[in-house]
Amino acid sequence: MIVSPSILSADWTRLADAVKIAESGADWLHCDVMDGHFVPNLTFGPPMVATLHRMTRLPLDVHLMIDDPLAFVPAFVEAGSAILTLHIEAPGVAGPGWPAPVRSHGEGAAAGDAPAAAPAQHTIDYARLRRTLAAVRARGAKVGLAARPDTPYDELEPVLGELDLLLVMTVYPGFSGQAFLPAPLETMRRAAAYRRARNDTFHIEVDGGIQAEDTGVRVAEAGADAVVAGHGIYRQPDPVGAIRALKALGAPAGAA
Ligand code: DX5
Ligand code: ZN
Repeated sequence: MIVSPSILSADWTRLADAVKIAESGADWLHCDVMDGHFVPNLTFGPPMVATLHRMTRLPLDVHLMIDDPLAFVPAFVEAGSAILTLHIEAPGVAGPGWPAPVRSHGEGAAAGDAPAAAPAQHTIDYARLRRTLAAVRARGAKVGLAARPDTPYDELEPVLGELDLLLVMTVYPGFSGQAFLPAPLETMRRAAAYRRARNDTFHIEVDGGIQAEDTGVRVAEAGADAVVAGHGIYRQPDPVGAIRALKALGAPAGAA
């Protein structure tokens, strides 16, 4: 299993220690970029990614939760993103027609802020989506596409062959520390079947509420080969041990 600790959940007064924890055994470092529009939260931008790039040789796995990723591709690639992942639901990618961002149930969310009911189908401008994916590649980074828990698998399949990574969200994006939602397990299974049938090699990464003991096992069984973990690493008593346990997911018993 590829493990990508989410720096959002780390203690930023000890950022160097957080990076060292990741370097103890993780593969990538996950950077959550939020713009306060696509999701109801703000985090950090290219300067933080550039800072982390100076601190570590771990590939930076940058998750853009922003309205207009195309406008920021150059800045995030120059900052050192190895993988740049954008959301299929972002208005600047898929065009208008998506519902307003749902309010998450996690830290910072007001009680009773339920997610909006999922629409049956979205209207996606695939030509525009492909242009955005190509813009990331043209700059020299690997390209990922992220999907919220309410986005149907069928809307992702047309572009799976053009991706280095599919990021399946198991929480509504916006906050770390939320409870895992099981519905996207079906998306992982179908994407894994597609990948097998075509001998494709894109990663299936999962983000939201991942812990080695329970949800990690379920996503590994569903075909995920990469996991993001925030609270599951940085809020554990033994973060290095948590990385080791996540690394062992999906491996044959006794192989860890
Ligand atoms: C949520 C972010 C996640 C988050 C994961 O919007 O994309 O990467 O930091 O945190 P945990 O693992 O605590 O759910
Ligand atoms: Zn993320």
